[in-house]
Amino acid sequence: MKFTLEAQDKASKARAGSVETDHGTIETPIFMPVGTAGTVKAVHQRELKEDIKAQIILGNTYHLYLRPELPVIQKAGGLHRFNGWDKPILTDSGGYQVYSLAGTGRKINEEGVVFKSHIDGSIHTFTPEGVMDIQRSIGADIIMAFDECTPYPCEFTYARKSMEMTHRWLKRCCQRFDSTSPHYDYQQTLFPIVQGSVYKDLRVQSAEFIAAQDREGNAIGGLSVGEPAEIMYELTEVVCDILPSDKPRYLMGVGTPANILECIALGVDMFDCVMPTRNARNGMIFTTEGIINIKNEKWKDDLSPLDPSLGGYVSGNYSKAYLRHLIKSGEMLGAQIASIQNLTFYLWLVNTAREKIKSGEFLPWKNQMTNKLMQRL
Ligand code: GUN
Repeated sequence: MKFTLEAQDKASKARAGSVETDHGTIETPIFMPVGTAGTVKAVHQRELKEDIKAQIILGNTYHLYLRPELPVIQKAGGLHRFNGWDKPILTDSGGYQVYSLAGTGRKINEEGVVFKSHIDGSIHTFTPEGVMDIQRSIGADIIMAFDECTPYPCEFTYARKSMEMTHRWLKRCCQRFDSTSPHYDYQQTLFPIVQGSVYKDLRVQSAEFIAAQDREGNAIGGLSVGEPAEIMYELTEVVCDILPSDKPRYLMGVGTPANILECIALGVDMFDCVMPTRNARNGMIFTTEGIINIKNEKWKDDLSPLDPSLGGYVSGNYSKAYLRHLIKSGEMLGAQIASIQNLTFYLWLVNTAREKIKSGEFLPWKNQMTNKLMQRL
């Protein structure tokens, strides 16, 4: 993998760059649609590529390991062949799913995590070594370290112990990753994850530890878990200032379009979030003019296109009234149109940010866009 910094904004810490992988180049800043089970919900691969212009998608170790199970993915020749997506794939390690499984009897100890399958209740163990092997055989281009994502709020003592364990797990991840080879005929790379909850001193310590591992890219985890946005921005800035500038920085699970713009300004290069797809299915539509709750009565007979200036097929060809009708009726096409609109918007947002960084107009554009995004149309 190769990261090239192409432009640096003078008025903020925003940057434009590119990440080269064996499955193609990712232009940063980038948003990565979430495809938990090897599919971006309600969107097929041709739409992802041609309409949305996605450059990389996410998969999830926890879900893919439980179903369809690794032998199936291996028999297909890896996840790219299995799901027909031939551009880069990043897999999350299961660290976040384990956090989400709190209250279901999952047990975290030094060795790893014992958890119950949400599908059939069977018991499984994830260790840092096992999770490296799983992600290698899924065939992700970018593999995430196994970590513990702490909840919010979180006591200082727990946050410190958890961060220290995540660091020890990282050492084990690196050792396993470096002593194994790619399962397929392309390179894979491992990103470590900064933790430390909302505590600045822990975040500094974690960012320094992660930077010292000298991997090809770095991630920031444990944020956007319920803390106020101002705290998330403050900690993101602290961490970005420590992580090396010649490597991509990935802020995990963030966020709203306004969060993304703010964090691009702090020096983040990569984002993922379920928001554009999950909220689409509930009728929350992101447009270049602002955010719409398509279920509102006011859209009932509004036959204007969803977002004519966005320039995509879906945004120009379907009306607000028709999408409202589909969503209100629980029609599958409603979820499809809404998901494509939202992802097209998210990709437009990061692509435009990239252009504005290159042309030196990022900050005023970000402020103007953020104001629009605060409006509920
Ligand atoms: N997704 C969102 N936050 C996190 C995190 O802290 N760790 C992992 N592994 N995935 C995440």
